[in-house]
Amino acid sequence: MTTLADNPDLAHHGDLELSPGLIDLAVNVLRPEPPPWLRQVLAESLATLAAYPDPTIAEAAVAARHERPTSEVLMTAGAAEAFVLLARAVRPAHAVIVHPQFTEPEVALRSAGHQVDRVLLDAADGFRLHPEQIPPSADLVIIGNPTNPTSVLHPAQTLRAIARPGRMLVVDEAFMDAVPGEPESLANARDVPGLLVIRSMTKMWGLAGLRIGYAVGEARVLGALSRAQPLWAVSSPALAAGAACFSPRAQNEAMATALQTDLQRAYLLERLATLPQVRTYGRARAPFVLIETAGADQVRLQLRERGIAVRRGDTFPGLGSDWLRIAVRPYATTDRLIAVLRSILG
Ligand SMILES: Cc1ncc(COP(=O)(O)O)c(C=O)c1O
Repeated sequence: MTTLADNPDLAHHGDLELSPGLIDLAVNVLRPEPPPWLRQVLAESLATLAAYPDPTIAEAAVAARHERPTSEVLMTAGAAEAFVLLARAVRPAHAVIVHPQFTEPEVALRSAGHQVDRVLLDAADGFRLHPEQIPPSADLVIIGNPTNPTSVLHPAQTLRAIARPGRMLVVDEAFMDAVPGEPESLANARDVPGLLVIRSMTKMWGLAGLRIGYAVGEARVLGALSRAQPLWAVSSPALAAGAACFSPRAQNEAMATALQTDLQRAYLLERLATLPQVRTYGRARAPFVLIETAGADQVRLQLRERGIAVRRGDTFPGLGSDWLRIAVRPYATTDRLIAVLRSILG
């Protein structure tokens, strides 16, 4: 077992790396601002602000997208709120989090008084998950797919192999909409016992400041989360945006962004491969790449001095001071990063 005292930096996130003037390779939001049509939706929603928010339309859109009844959907103030609701709703005897991964689920569980056990995936094994790594006694398992910061996309089959009656399986799919076709998503799977899938709408659509996401899964689990949620937790503009992002046009745009991200990530990896001091592990599938290079903590500071913010890796359980996470960005930004990295690494 680990204690919060062992992890003073679990609350660190990429946004803390930013400062005015720095090129942002630290935060994983896919676009610098919401598209114009979405800003129009938000602007129009302002006229409705006198009324209390009603999630019905957004829930119906999510339910249709994931081929589920609305009893299996809950709109949340970003994926982050869903972790807090989960921590409030459950009483796990043995909670297990698969690391390295986004640290908020662990923070939420610990803040609610739960103990957390960690399963650490191995870089040399490509951060692959083997179902037998999950202790049989685990009655709550949390895993990211694709995982932040490793960028690894776990096969749906592997995740299904972890699920069983009496165990809640929470899959954080915050970045799944950046994977073209979402081949390993469980969001539409209605036959997995104890499944809860958490999704974010802030990354794809540039809505981190608006706070919109949702959870889908077994109705029993969703009911428990819903009872833990404060009344009117998700604002009307957030719900309006949430519903609009499931229109056929928006979904086509999301697919185009995901395909473009694939190309930009391939370019980033190709350019990183020209730096002999840099190593990557596993197959990256998310809009960011995890790298290992000796003295990465110092490299990060030197990058900052040269105008580039990247995400430190040492606050993720299982990584250390030799790791950095780099967001996938347009080609010219990647060229700039590589040129600066090359001169720093010598
Ligand atoms: C893996 C992962 N899950 C969830 C979140 C939270 O997303 P949201 O902005 O929807 O709360 C983040 C944010 O960085 C993340 O990286």
